[in-house]
Amino acid sequence: MSSEESEFGIIGMAVMGQNLALNVEESGYQVSVYNRTGSKTKEFKQQRASDRDIVATYELEDFVSSLERPRKILILVKAGDPVDMVIDQLLPLMEEGDIIIDGGNSHFQDTNRRVEKVEEEGLYYLGTGVSGGEYGALHGPSIMPGGHPEAYEEVSDILRSAAAQTPEGPTCEYLGPRSAGHYVKMVHNGIEYAVMQSIAEAYWAMENLLELNHEEMADRFEEWNRPLEAYLMEITVEILRREDEKMGRPLLQMILDTAKQKGTGKWTSRSALDLGVPTPTITAAVDARLLSSRKDQRGRLSELYETGNSGVYDGFGEDLEDALYLSIVTAYAQGLDLLTVASHEYDYSLDLQDVARIWKDGCIIRSDLLDPISESYSDSELDTLLASKKFRDDYRDGLNSLQKVVSAISKTNLICPALSASLNYFNSLTSERLPANMIQAQRDYFGAHTYQRVDEEGTFHTEWQDIKNV
Ligand SMILES: NC(=O)c1ccc[n+]([C@@H]2O[C@H](COP(=O)([O-])OP(=O)(O)OC[C@H]3O[C@@H](n4cnc5c(N)ncnc54)[C@H](OP(=O)(O)O)[C@@H]3O)[C@@H](O)[C@H]2O)c1
Repeated sequence: MSSEESEFGIIGMAVMGQNLALNVEESGYQVSVYNRTGSKTKEFKQQRASDRDIVATYELEDFVSSLERPRKILILVKAGDPVDMVIDQLLPLMEEGDIIIDGGNSHFQDTNRRVEKVEEEGLYYLGTGVSGGEYGALHGPSIMPGGHPEAYEEVSDILRSAAAQTPEGPTCEYLGPRSAGHYVKMVHNGIEYAVMQSIAEAYWAMENLLELNHEEMADRFEEWNRPLEAYLMEITVEILRREDEKMGRPLLQMILDTAKQKGTGKWTSRSALDLGVPTPTITAAVDARLLSSRKDQRGRLSELYETGNSGVYDGFGEDLEDALYLSIVTAYAQGLDLLTVASHEYDYSLDLQDVARIWKDGCIIRSDLLDPISESYSDSELDTLLASKKFRDDYRDGLNSLQKVVSAISKTNLICPALSASLNYFNSLTSERLPANMIQAQRDYFGAHTYQRVDEEGTFHTEWQDIKNV
């Protein structure tokens, strides 16, 4: 054990905490670590951290006093109540000016509450999204910090050196006050849900309509991913190629088709609905996971109905590539639109160019697509990616393919909720007229909610029925 004080402390020695500790130490900092269950800390120190400048501590008091001031403590414990429990234990041991960083997937409203509580004690609280899973945590994640800018300055060097390094700089940038970092991380996860679902639908259509085998599907995804360099496409290729050792067939065939979720996709949809922002592809992805979880019901109902799989046509495979691409772009467009509105609503002052830049590497939604997205937001007037020059051309080129693919899949009993949500989002947002006049008339009919006219200013109501004679 080193006799010097550590420059950084990490609480929580599960997947994220262990790997980030190794990463920060690798960047040249001495790190103290602590975990509620001491045996995990001991095992970590004896095995993965045996020759590292990492100080294992087994009492919270020892952990806190092993750190130089102002103390910089990163909490990486299970999201929810455990974070509050750790804060409550830490506060009496810490001093004014010390900094707590919550690197977990905390809900942004919990972060707002915690910022207030911790700052009342004269300390700082940085709600910080960390993406990239186990690999990212070890080799360089995307880090999305929010909170007091002065506190960020204190930890900036450490966080930036642990982040992924790109030609444009580290994938860590101060995003804004209070819960800005956790809000951005939440939306990152919402986009992740939508991209994953879009890929799953493309895989399903390839397997069932094009009747490709797993190797052929992997080859196609690999080819489609060349211009995108998207992490989620890369892992799709690897997943398709993986064999089940036990059965000697593709492992994917042996994995139960019920998708679980921890809630960040749902949080994104819920927040979007609260703010009045349409994010249908993200919501379709959340719904798709819910529907998949009804395995028994699906089994029973599938026996009641019969439908064919005869939607394929010449050129379907090529169209599927364009359809998937546009659905992925639309997922980012919806997420960034939500960030635009949330930034305004919650005074985050988000710079979407920065957001796109720090998603460029180290995180689950990383892709070369983030370059043109970031560039598009150099135009501070841009209100949606659909209006940007680059993506306007892509939509024009690929729209017909998306329409044909959705139409073809819809003629079968296969599913494409994300692809079709993306198409309807695009069609709605690019339609000067929508059938919402009917909705307004219906609302006025049954509830006297009034409507506006296309030819005259003002608010109008029509006596649609003669109540007295009904
Ligand atoms: N895993 C990922 O790929 C990933 C990616 C991005 C973000 N995240 C987020 O990062 C955070 C950490 O994730 P993780 O997967 O490393 O760990 P996790 O499985 O979410 O949580 C396990 C850790 O939380 C600690 N813990 C649970 N309840 C506690 C309590 N009441 N008091 C103190 N400690 C408590 C556990 O300590 P004990 O050992 O004592 O039980 C253990 O260290 C989470 O918010 C997660 O959502 C995870």
